Amino acid sequence: MSVLDDDIEATLVTSSEIQQRIAELAAKIDADYADREPLLVGVLKGAVIFMSDLARALSRPSTMEFMACSSYGSSTTSSGVVRILKDLDRDVSGCDILIVEDIIDSGLTLSWLLKNLQARHPASVEVVALLRKPDAIKMPVNVKYVGFDIANEFVVGYGLDYAERYRDLPYIGRLKSSVYQG
Ligand code: PRP
Repeated sequence: MSVLDDDIEATLVTSSEIQQRIAELAAKIDADYADREPLLVGVLKGAVIFMSDLARALSRPSTMEFMACSSYGSSTTSSGVVRILKDLDRDVSGCDILIVEDIIDSGLTLSWLLKNLQARHPASVEVVALLRKPDAIKMPVNVKYVGFDIANEFVVGYGLDYAERYRDLPYIGRLKSSVYQG
């Protein structure tokens, strides 16, 4: 239990559901990359928790890189204007990139990121996202591996924040409105 649990109105995806789904996604990825080593590209900061569990659930080796992108907007919605805050540390031409995202909301960040990474001449680019909000999509993106489709509401936990907090919760939940209203 965390003191942050008191701020959560409802649990939407439990810790054990997340871990079970990660094991299923990892088995699919292991099979699809049987003859290749995926380069996991984590999108900071939200994907850190998912990426560390996913990498350890894979039975085959992978390597890791991180990018940080910022979409301008309020703390709870995206605007679609993306800039790179931290770029990859190496040339990824010829690599089999697997972008690791915690959530696809409007799809604007991912759409921009796919174009950006494809321009670097990788051998392949695919996406694994723990969460997706089908009703919030503004830019359709091809996502090969999805953990859970969820309703279009603001969620926190398991990497997702509100004002930089709640990323360390092991589950996905909905915040009490009193938290927003101070
Ligand atoms: C979140 C999330 C995705 C993006 C999804 O990141 O991790 O990268 O928003 O939104 P979109 O589909 O509407 O573009 P955020 O910018 O909140 O940064 P963070 O991971 O550091 O919290």
